[in-house]
Amino acid sequence: MVNKITVVGAGNVGATTAQRVAEKELARTVVMVDVAEGIPQGKGLDQWESAPIEGFDTRVIGTNGYAETADSDIVIITAGIARKPGMSRDDLLNTNAGIVKQVSEQIKATSPNAILIIVSNPLDVMCYVAKEVTGFPRQRVLGMAGVLDSARYRAFLAEALDVSVRDIQAMVLGGHGDTMVPLISYTTVSGIPVTQLIDRSRLDAIVDRTRNGGAEIVKHLKTGSAYYAPSSGAVQMAEAIVRDEKRILPCAAWLEGEYGQKGIFLGVPCKVGRKGLERVLEVELTADEKAALAKSADAVREPMKAVKL
Ligand code: LAC
Repeated sequence: MVNKITVVGAGNVGATTAQRVAEKELARTVVMVDVAEGIPQGKGLDQWESAPIEGFDTRVIGTNGYAETADSDIVIITAGIARKPGMSRDDLLNTNAGIVKQVSEQIKATSPNAILIIVSNPLDVMCYVAKEVTGFPRQRVLGMAGVLDSARYRAFLAEALDVSVRDIQAMVLGGHGDTMVPLISYTTVSGIPVTQLIDRSRLDAIVDRTRNGGAEIVKHLKTGSAYYAPSSGAVQMAEAIVRDEKRILPCAAWLEGEYGQKGIFLGVPCKVGRKGLERVLEVELTADEKAALAKSADAVREPMKAVKL
């Protein structure tokens, strides 16, 4: 375990993330920080009081300031407003950019060596805001989207094929939006190409449902967006870092020429270990997948240009 993990935001995503970090004992202390008075304190105390029953020794504390977060090993940023039905992730742009900017300034001042995992939306642009404001190297700024999008895709496939989710390997690349790119050519069921097990029209429907997976949850909840699967995604990345697992996970990473892209955060296969982003893996893509990834990059660049820092 590491010494300290900070979760910024004590809403549904942040609080569930803190709980998962504590239950996995990834850190000695989890600090939940939020501007809302009493909320991080109350939720943090409530989680800590579950420790004797759940059997974890990670202290969970909540606060409104950054003093307690000082020298965090990992900071997971979930702060920002969530989507309401009918809103796209890009509709959150300026509000959340302002919030992520302020948070990033605080983190830079108090935890200059932290590895950042960004969850706030629109995800790829918020990663850019955090990287620009902190000036951290790309190794220490990762975005959580691909793990979530891939998990949705895997869940839908497991259901359709009536097999264990554990046996479905899949990657969803690109931006965390309608242009995301589920890689059918790399989707296997225990190594068997998925196209041998399901017909193309059903697969296309699953790909489509994956692209709209976030909106599907928003439509149900009406007053907020998903948080169980998003927190699982963020914590899987944190666990890969804490335990130096060298996992290959689809994460939003700052590209420096990989996949023909430069100066942009985009979901790509990453090796994640104790140093954070240890390597971007460049894999072969079909012509269609290449075109879809380029289109997805364009869809990220546009709001990126619009954001005021
Ligand atoms: C989703 C939001 C969190 O995909 O982006 O559910």
